[in-house]
Amino acid sequence: MTEREFDIVLWGATGATGRRAAHHLARRCGEGGVRLAIGGRNREKLEALRGDLPDAGGPIAVVVGDSHDTAFMAAMTARTRVVASTVGPFALYGSELVAACAQNGTHYCDLTAEPQWMRAMMDAHEDTARETGARLVQSCGHDSVPSDLGVQFLQEAAVVRHGKPCRRVATRVTRMKGGFSGGTAASFLNAMRLRETDPNFGRLSQDPYVLCPAGQRQGPDGPDRMMPIEVTWDADLKAWTKPYFMGPMNSKVVRRTNAIMDYPYGRDFSYQETGLTRGGIGGWLAAMRDTLAGRMLLTAMSIPKTRDLLQRRVLPKSGEGPSKKVRESGSYELVLVGEMPDGTILKARVTGQGDPGVRSTTLMLTEAALCLAEDADKITVGGGFWTPAAAMGALLRDRITAHAGLFFEMIDET
Ligand SMILES: NC(=O)c1ccc[n+]([C@@H]2O[C@H](COP(=O)([O-])OP(=O)(O)OC[C@H]3O[C@@H](n4cnc5c(N)ncnc54)[C@H](OP(=O)(O)O)[C@@H]3O)[C@@H](O)[C@H]2O)c1
Repeated sequence: MTEREFDIVLWGATGATGRRAAHHLARRCGEGGVRLAIGGRNREKLEALRGDLPDAGGPIAVVVGDSHDTAFMAAMTARTRVVASTVGPFALYGSELVAACAQNGTHYCDLTAEPQWMRAMMDAHEDTARETGARLVQSCGHDSVPSDLGVQFLQEAAVVRHGKPCRRVATRVTRMKGGFSGGTAASFLNAMRLRETDPNFGRLSQDPYVLCPAGQRQGPDGPDRMMPIEVTWDADLKAWTKPYFMGPMNSKVVRRTNAIMDYPYGRDFSYQETGLTRGGIGGWLAAMRDTLAGRMLLTAMSIPKTRDLLQRRVLPKSGEGPSKKVRESGSYELVLVGEMPDGTILKARVTGQGDPGVRSTTLMLTEAALCLAEDADKITVGGGFWTPAAAMGALLRDRITAHAGLFFEMIDET
């Protein structure tokens, strides 16, 4: 790649997640001599933010433009080696940027959790990105880094210990403490609207292999269903499962990792991601309560009148997010249960410090952007669309362990 003016542009730096990412990035760029620019549509807000940022080791440039301005996007992406974007819902504001990155050979990472938009971007720009060498890595936040890297971590351990990967992995979200931001609410609302207006939306959301390349969209998993009323017994963890609203999205990313890396987890690999309560009648009641509450929220969001009411009165607006106290006291835990072909069970745990929706997400996005910029020569894949595990794998795992409060471990029961 020829010399460019910036190493990283943080696009959308004035939003709820963007502001946090800007702080993390400035601090981390200062440590590593990485040239940072912050971008968005409002110069005044960007200048004010710049004044608040920690020392980045050099000047932080400001770039101003609109997401839909293709000429601006072309010019911006030609000035930087990497763009990290928080301008979402990505299906509404992200397409021009991805196209420009693909065209200019600019590496890219974002926070999308919108499979139908991800599919559309891959269909439109995969060939160009392969030619230009642009590494385009979507879903670099809480969706879907802990799940994607967690499964890769468990499978690597399975191969080291037993010579082969687990044939089935179930990720159970056992703790999730924190809040969510206005952009996440907007993405959810946009998905609910698309459900009504886009005839392909339902089919694409339910297809478990929708993110896999053409010709590789088959496997043992059944349709991904959004918040089904389903409470099941996990015999390995001796506790009740409940639907997890981001499970279908994260599952699609994990299955894509397997497909685009030529099946390191096996062609018959099966994946599921749910929440988990505990054992006994108390655990069952808690799982049922949460399942019904999730279903009620989904129903309310699918009725235009209640959806508008929730949007106006309850949900956070653009730029809003959890308080500092909630961000810093938040945490989460995922327990991954893998079954080997002979029935042997392996377990791993991924924990994260900080609320998943903003603090942990923005720390992970920061490390993904730095990984694309600083580890460019160590990343083995070429241009194209990649998942976090496929593009960065252990490089990103080491970074988020050292700098983003995540921890990966095998659970060895004696
Ligand atoms: N994957 C995950 O785990 C995860 C977690 C959190 C968030 N997210 C996603 O991240 C995205 C951002 O969330 P958020 O809460 O930070 O959103 P937000 O507060 O609404 O911020 C959106 C940002 O986009 C900018 N923007 C909007 N329209 C623009 C345009 N036409 N041109 C240029 N900039 C524009 C806004 O600028 P102004 O400040 O000028 O309005 C703001 O900087 C959402 O899609 C959300 O779903 C994902």
